[in-house]
Amino acid sequence: MASSSQNGLPNQEQKGGLSFVDFLRGLSILIYESFFEKITSRHLKSPLPLPPLSDLIVILTGPTSGIGLEIARNLTFSGAHLVMAEKNTKAAHDLINQWNHERSYSSSDNEAKLLDIEVMKLDLLSLQSVVKFAQQWNSRSRPVNVLINNAGIYSMKPQSFSED
Ligand SMILES: NC(=O)c1ccc[n+]([C@@H]2O[C@H](COP(=O)([O-])OP(=O)(O)OC[C@H]3O[C@@H](n4cnc5c(N)ncnc54)[C@H](OP(=O)(O)O)[C@@H]3O)[C@@H](O)[C@H]2O)c1
Repeated sequence: MASSSQNGLPNQEQKGGLSFVDFLRGLSILIYESFFEKITSRHLKSPLPLPPLSDLIVILTGPTSGIGLEIARNLTFSGAHLVMAEKNTKAAHDLINQWNHERSYSSSDNEAKLLDIEVMKLDLLSLQSVVKFAQQWNSRSRPVNVLINNAGIYSMKPQSFSED
């Protein structure tokens, strides 16, 4: 595991990125785990069916692509109150429209209920945005049952830091 200095930032020698040996070690673990995961999970249904979640309030970061999008879709179709915490709010609203359309199309009931879902702006590269998000949420005095910190990037590039 990488060591860090007292202030939590990487030591000077780590700023250049991974050594070639570390890179190869990481790559071999990744390949092994991907292979192993496929074998051990092949009996599972995909996606796994969720129980009804209508009593849950869930905040999910990074809900508009990749893993987050699948999580968002499954949670909202299972009835959770989903808060999409997203920097690109238009992309989130487009998804909600698409999902509501899908739901009304597949429902036999003419007045299918709209999904219980909302969008709140959050840019995790700005602490100002994080604080604003928290203040907006706290002002409602509603609980959070589940917080899914999904947003992020998966990158082999050297670690870098936000301006904050
Ligand atoms: N995919 C993998 O194999 C893998 C493996 C291990 C871990 N992970 C982790 O799993 C998580 C999701 O991965 P993924 O492959 O699904 O990633 P992805 O498709 O790139 O999605 C990342 C999500 O994070 C959001 N995001 C990025 N920067 C943000 C910021 N500054 N503020 C707010 N939201 C931001 C993106 O929003 P925009 O679309 O608006 O940019 C997007 O919705 C990441 O944390 C990743 O490190 C993934």
